[in-house]
Amino acid sequence: MTARTGVRFGARTAAIATPGSRAWQVSDRAEARLAAGDDVIVLTVGDVDVPTPAHILAAVQRSLAAGRTHYAPIVGEPALREAVAARTNHRYGTRYGSEQVVIFPGAQSALFSSIQCLAGPGEEVVVLEPFYATYEAVVAAAGAVPVAVSLRQGQAFGLDLAALERAVTPATRAVLLNTPNNPAGFVLGADEVGALARLCARLGLWLVCDEVYAEIAYARAHASPACEPAILDRLVLVDSLSKSHAMTGWRIGWAIGPPDLAAHLGRLAMASLFGSPTFIQDAAVAALTGPQDICAELRQLYRERSDALLHSLAGAPGLHIWAPQGGMFVLAEISATGLAADAFATRLLEEAGVAVVPGLAFGQSVADCIRLGLTQPAERLAEAGARIRRWLAAR
Ligand SMILES: Cc1ncc(COP(=O)(O)O)c(C=O)c1O
Repeated sequence: MTARTGVRFGARTAAIATPGSRAWQVSDRAEARLAAGDDVIVLTVGDVDVPTPAHILAAVQRSLAAGRTHYAPIVGEPALREAVAARTNHRYGTRYGSEQVVIFPGAQSALFSSIQCLAGPGEEVVVLEPFYATYEAVVAAAGAVPVAVSLRQGQAFGLDLAALERAVTPATRAVLLNTPNNPAGFVLGADEVGALARLCARLGLWLVCDEVYAEIAYARAHASPACEPAILDRLVLVDSLSKSHAMTGWRIGWAIGPPDLAAHLGRLAMASLFGSPTFIQDAAVAALTGPQDICAELRQLYRERSDALLHSLAGAPGLHIWAPQGGMFVLAEISATGLAADAFATRLLEEAGVAVVPGLAFGQSVADCIRLGLTQPAERLAEAGARIRRWLAAR
């Protein structure tokens, strides 16, 4: 769209126009073609094709029938904050109280609010790369500067604590980490996460850990910085039910942190949200306290799907593929094809009918990669892999 003359917007609007905000152009074209009836396999947006479990649907219906359609406490329903604290303590052996939990409409909103409370103009947030496509905009929206530190070491991913320490300046306020990782599918080990947490504690930095894929670690156990006591007074855990319980559209998540941060988050939630829907929170309590089979089912589903996609892509000329350890994506380096990732994604859609996301949205160090979502049944992923192989071989 061309800029209108004489119309001004706030300075932050330029800052939030990051590569991540433009990541969905191929996806939008693919969705339009799908709607027009074309045979297109869309592997872009990270939404699972599995329905929300029946007992959670029943809980929202009960809540609505009971007239639970009014304002909720701004920081969240007590029962949900309690359930979140209990689940977190059970997972990590921590002793979070429910007053340390603030409910938000999804992990995205919890991340946005956490960064707003931790950094501002003139300050920096180290964003460990590759990162989820919204992170740079989240930091920029607070007026702070995202400073990328890459975890990519050639064909492997791992923490380089020396590089991280070199990137820290007197203006650095926080480090933002996502494990299990979107887009690269790696799961950091307990030793790495513990060392990172201790480094942040030593440098007096906040550590914000996005754990939305914690339940979807299938080839390596998820490790949380919450297991490192030294960081607990500067740690923010962000999570949601979107990925773990097939509840993306419900928009329900949370941030957990020390009590003073929780108080700031509560005031920000007042200014920005004035609470999350009561009936959704009731359903979230049912999700957290009821049967947890869905988490294991999804873990198994993604493992099978990743096997199917990797099998069908084996030997594809010019691709280097990282087998995911968790999450719902597969990252593939495509530089040996001689194409830039944007051109690769555009031509793959036009010529083979498969939609993927070009890597730049996830950071400079994976700009020569594409991301494929495990968001279709295994047979469809195998078909996508076959199309990609045929297309690459015919070029
Ligand atoms: C790493 C990561 N964090 C956060 C989110 C946002 O999750 P939610 O739906 O809970 O806002 C996503 C969604 O894809 C994600 O991949």
